[in-house]
Amino acid sequence: MATGASNCSFAVLLVDARNGVLTQTKRHACIVSLLGIRKLALAINKMDLVGFDQSRFDAIVEDFARFSEPLGFEQVTCVPVSALKGDNVYSPSAHMHWYHGPTLLGHLETVDVTRDDKEQAFRFPVQWVNRPHLDFRGYAGTVASGAVKPGDEVVIEPSGKRVHVARIVTADGDLESAAAGDAVTLTFAEEVDVSRGDVLASLGARPQVADQIAARLVWFDDEPMLPGRTYTLKCGCQTVTATISSLKYKLNVDNLDHVAGKTLELNEVGSCNLATGKALVFDPYAENPETGSFILIDRFTHATVAAGMIEFGLRRATNIQWQVLSIDKSARAGQKGQKACALWLTGLSGSGKSTLANALEKRLYTLGRHTYVLDGDNVRHGLNKDLGFTDVDRVENIRRVAETAKLFVEAGLIVLVSFISPFRSERRMARELFEEGEFMEIFVDTPLAVCEARDPKGLYRKARAGLISNFTGIDSDYEAPERAEMSLKTSNSTAETLAETVLAELRRRQVI
Ligand code: ADX
Repeated sequence: MATGASNCSFAVLLVDARNGVLTQTKRHACIVSLLGIRKLALAINKMDLVGFDQSRFDAIVEDFARFSEPLGFEQVTCVPVSALKGDNVYSPSAHMHWYHGPTLLGHLETVDVTRDDKEQAFRFPVQWVNRPHLDFRGYAGTVASGAVKPGDEVVIEPSGKRVHVARIVTADGDLESAAAGDAVTLTFAEEVDVSRGDVLASLGARPQVADQIAARLVWFDDEPMLPGRTYTLKCGCQTVTATISSLKYKLNVDNLDHVAGKTLELNEVGSCNLATGKALVFDPYAENPETGSFILIDRFTHATVAAGMIEFGLRRATNIQWQVLSIDKSARAGQKGQKACALWLTGLSGSGKSTLANALEKRLYTLGRHTYVLDGDNVRHGLNKDLGFTDVDRVENIRRVAETAKLFVEAGLIVLVSFISPFRSERRMARELFEEGEFMEIFVDTPLAVCEARDPKGLYRKARAGLISNFTGIDSDYEAPERAEMSLKTSNSTAETLAETVLAELRRRQVI
């Protein structure tokens, strides 16, 4: 399938001669194939421990050939080695006269891994806008693929504007041309607005621009992938938020079957649809690995959780457009004489969220405010009745209720949201749906022991008895807020007193 750069990369897989082709080897072969690598050396190591036996080597070679056939490698070179004393590593082994192929290092030195980028379209992700003084404006970065020379007309994505390259500037003077791998600064003949993350591209072969993509993911993190959760996606110099909207299938690395699943665990490979917060400029990985690959980063731990390869852009993104309505949020709220906002109560089950929401709504009502309460137990009877309490379902539960709360705020209401909402990531996602000052996170900070002693619905007792699983605080996490606008201790105050405290804060913030 792949051409150009993806055609020439190379990988070495190590196999223990005693164990043969294990799941781990298959997984690595799959990943290597997904990365577009077409040439492979299979180093069958520890031959000394199987008596330098040719039939053992042949069996492993045959086994791997059978497994890897659908992966489409162009060349698989199998070398029997024993790293212990260097047999067939750098000099031919005295113990394996039956082997007539190259040594491992000999093969690495001769295998053709030269890049052939001539056919690749020009791609230049802008890393930095260099503007030392008013008379110079250059765009610094590394040519990802193809080549460029002064006078070339290129297109700036995602804006689609066209410009002519004026100079290719480097610390050692201007260049006549620049090609893949060259770090340069480009200047343009025309005055244009270009920012970090934009991609300069050939006119004749433009990259795709979409905010919905289909991609393969290799999951690296101990925490499983959760559809609906927002991650940071880095593709070249572009950094955007991305949500995995659905896992289409996972790959069974033993037989390459597609299997259904809701999440990806550590080391699993799967195919997903992702929605990005901003349009992404990319090429399918098969056409250009440089501009078709990305990483996903956890927004709290900053750990890299996955590597991704873009399969294609989803057209849907361009077919659904935002409808601008004449009456807007502030008009609707203004008619009610209030400012719309979302008060997001989070805390353990039994912490007092619903009681506080109820007391607060009564007070706001008597003050003539227009309110609505979204309560976990109630919303789970209707809109979210298809969801349970696994991490995956809780992420989706909060995503839906956050979007619903946003609609209520658009309608001009003061909406009180009362959900456990145990994960920081989803509370942050909710916050980011709102404008500055529209969202207030209120931590109903009641210790687990107190909630358990209250046990208003008898659920803690059932959870302790093992009758309910994934119960928050017992066998499912609650991640306490770190930057909530308010934190309320419920142990020594009535709900009415706490409601007054919240009202005072709303007055201070001029919400009411
Ligand atoms: S959330 O974690 O997804 O935000 P939500 O607030 O909607 O939870 O629902 C919590 C309510 O569901 C609890 O108050 C409790 O009455 C009920 N419930 C039933 N099973 C569980 C469970 N395993 N964990 C937590 N709450 C549960």
